[in-house]
Amino acid sequence: MIYTTQTRRLFIDPAQPDASILARAAAVLQQGGLVAFPTETVYGLGANALDGVAVNRIFAAKERPANDPVIVHIYDDRQLPLVANDVPSVVWRLRDVFWPGALTLVLRRSSFIPPNVSSGLRTVAVRMPAGTIARELLRAAELPIAAPSANTFSRPSATTADHVMEDLDGHVDMVLDGGATMMGLESTVLDLTGDIPTVLRPGGVTLEALREVLPTVQVRERMNAADAPATEASPGLLVKHYSPRAQFLLYDGTPEAARAAMVDEAKRLVAQGKRIGVLIVNEDRPLFDGLALFIEMLGSSDDLPQVGTRLFAGLRALDAHRVEVILARTLSAEGIGAAIADRMLRAAEGKRIAT
Ligand code: TXA
Ligand code: MG
Repeated sequence: MIYTTQTRRLFIDPAQPDASILARAAAVLQQGGLVAFPTETVYGLGANALDGVAVNRIFAAKERPANDPVIVHIYDDRQLPLVANDVPSVVWRLRDVFWPGALTLVLRRSSFIPPNVSSGLRTVAVRMPAGTIARELLRAAELPIAAPSANTFSRPSATTADHVMEDLDGHVDMVLDGGATMMGLESTVLDLTGDIPTVLRPGGVTLEALREVLPTVQVRERMNAADAPATEASPGLLVKHYSPRAQFLLYDGTPEAARAAMVDEAKRLVAQGKRIGVLIVNEDRPLFDGLALFIEMLGSSDDLPQVGTRLFAGLRALDAHRVEVILARTLSAEGIGAAIADRMLRAAEGKRIAT
């Protein structure tokens, strides 16, 4: 069943969010409706996390499979006991350093959180977002808000309200348009329910920063779509995810070899009359001069935070040009680069082209 409604899009200034707009959005949430809103990472598609019927609407609106659990957002840690049980003491250390911020913690689910939030798992993913609009909305609603990224399932996450409208117009009651999100990549998901703290999804908080607080942290190996037991794992780890409509070819190797291979392939495809897009860093730009293709710039490869900000928007812009194939190359996987590398690899359905 698809949830259809008239979508109201309201502009709101992140520097000074208007209290009356926040109150309207909070009322929609309290009445069981859906509100899309910006966080510092990406836009979220929010519903009252204590209302299982409202949460079902999220799954319907996103066409998200019921076995992919949703993150619960909280305003402050006094809401933690409502959301989670048996909170381990390491949470307080992580909170001190990373909250509010781009770190999601997987904890034991409390009985106040309906099972569909977590796809029936006994755990729950919790995050305290830093974006002012997200924080003020949480405060106004006085509820924990369940919110996955505000995109149709498996599409690139939405980093602007236009992206949200592209995917969800008519399926969400209200969109708070606070402009482009700051990071453009989703939060890091850290599972604290096992013996060893494990990163399930790299994201806005880097592994290097986590290691300073939690030296034992490990990273979960990527799952293939073929061997995905949706039970305890994170279905968001599935390789096919964050995908543009176009075929995405990811070139790996030294920057010189990878960009040379991209140029060769781009020329070959253009000569066949194909609509081609490239998602490139500034220093690769001159090589593509004079070719009949669509170019989206990610910024300098020395500025990975900026690359992260532009990645999903670049994929969506190329899709909007209806390109058939997108070419890109791997960049450094250090720091925030790990999250960029992860999203690119998944857009490429797990395949890298060696050069
Ligand atoms: O930055 C973000 O995390 C954004 C903003 C809106 O907060 N949200 C987001 O949500 O990216 P979503 O649903 O697109 O991704 C949530 C990820 C998925 O990979 C999901 O499988 C995982 O978190 N997850 C959620 N609950 C989980 C749980 N109980 N156990 C393991 N993984 C979980
Ligand atoms: Mg998502």
